[in-house]
Amino acid sequence: MQITFSDPADSSTDAMVVAVGADCLLSPAAEAADRATGGAVRRAIAASRFSGKAGQFLDLMAPAGINAGRLVLAGVGASADATARTWQDWAGNIYGHLAGSGATAATLRVETMGGPVAEADAAANAAFGIALASYRFDRYRTTEKPDQKPSLNQAAIMVAGSAAAQSAYAPMAEVAAGVVLARDLVSEPANVLYPETLAERCTALSAQGVDVEVMDEARIDAIGMRTLLAVGMGSARDSRVVVMRWNGGPDDQAPIALVGKGVTFDTGGISIKPAAGMEDMKWDMGGSASVIGAMRAIAGRKAKANVIGIVGLVENMPSANAQRPGDVVTSLSGQTVEVINTDAEGRLVLCDLLTYVQRTYKPQAIVDLATLTGAIIVGLGHHNAGLFASDDALADGLTAAGKSTGEPVWRMPLGEEYDKALKSQIADMKNVGGRDGGSITAAQFLKRFIENDTPWAHLDIAGMAWSGESKPITPKGGTGYGVRLLDRLIADRYEQ
Ligand code: BES
Ligand code: MN
Ligand code: ZN
Repeated sequence: MQITFSDPADSSTDAMVVAVGADCLLSPAAEAADRATGGAVRRAIAASRFSGKAGQFLDLMAPAGINAGRLVLAGVGASADATARTWQDWAGNIYGHLAGSGATAATLRVETMGGPVAEADAAANAAFGIALASYRFDRYRTTEKPDQKPSLNQAAIMVAGSAAAQSAYAPMAEVAAGVVLARDLVSEPANVLYPETLAERCTALSAQGVDVEVMDEARIDAIGMRTLLAVGMGSARDSRVVVMRWNGGPDDQAPIALVGKGVTFDTGGISIKPAAGMEDMKWDMGGSASVIGAMRAIAGRKAKANVIGIVGLVENMPSANAQRPGDVVTSLSGQTVEVINTDAEGRLVLCDLLTYVQRTYKPQAIVDLATLTGAIIVGLGHHNAGLFASDDALADGLTAAGKSTGEPVWRMPLGEEYDKALKSQIADMKNVGGRDGGSITAAQFLKRFIENDTPWAHLDIAGMAWSGESKPITPKGGTGYGVRLLDRLIADRYEQ
């Protein structure tokens, strides 16, 4: 999608889109169109159910007096309550409305009608919405006919003060690139994206100035990340750990550590999963995709913070070399783990990453992201990630960032009572705590690897990394969940 900004001018376009607020509040451009068409806009509204609600559209085809193939009235809802997110969704819905319409170019007149967001910012958010809504993963479609592909490929954002809008959008375009990267990674099949190739995708971030270190199995073994390596033992693919460093902050600022589960395919291992739906486990690297996408965003917009991204890339397969239920493995921390269920592999990957990142980089805060448990989907569905945190300020920061970005989190409990479920007969802990409170016992497992009360938050994103239904700025498929959330957390809490 080609996105441009310009000041209002009378230029021709396939689709001229104007804003209408709730109860048919016409924006100035909609008013002007009504005048230019001799009142056709108001007559069309009167003859329809269109009232200016968010998501509503009314199209006037080739109206006389207007230099456009169609005039589109696009509902904003109550303009006095329109936030940055409202303008993102407004534009995302416009993309959805026009994508297959035959129009190749659309002009969006952004006017806030007295709403709380500065017009230039509303325009930048509209551009962001278009960029994310127009995402498609189509590299493996070879037989699509032109009329099955989206027609719309140019969006001209027209706003008074377009230069300000353009500069407001510049950092947002970097965040969008991070979301797109995460979506691409989550969408790739596991025969294409496995630890080695996912590590190569990380290496590409050096173009943004990220310092990328890829560790092979010999190096991981030398460090002693044995619970991570144990998960990958059954796979023909070698495991990798990738550390991505962005040093945009002051030299004396301790970094924020972002830690991602990157299981490129999760069969369950010897504790094998049922066949139905197993293909979904190609996106069991969603946590790592969020971290990689966030690093892309943060580096792209040159965030003034020091951030370490670390991802553990493994494939969980059954084979003669696979780890067995009952195996006892010594983690990097020195704590021993009895592997009761090889399908509870994410925590085995994360625990070693947590120890390594703490001992090597002394972070001031840690956020890990993982498609960790099916139980979090039972609990929260697909509308919130589960948030587990040892630190209230960090939890509040994530909750606020979730609200403002539209990537919400819901805080879940931690506690001694739950931790007991991890007691093992022969080792320091088991890797599963039973069915009850399965997401919480998984979080308790991770918590055992946090040292010196370092502020830590764990996001269980199993219900969020992939979506079966399209939303205004998130087409169905890989969502890129977490990129905007982490980027905003860094911007709001750790920059300046
Ligand atoms: N990757 C899965 C969790 C998952 C399930 C993610 C569905 C996305 C959708 C994880 O590795 C797993 O298998 N968890 C087990 C844990 C159990 C064995 C304690 C689960 O949730 O069943
Ligand atoms: Mn599993
Ligand atoms: Zn998994």
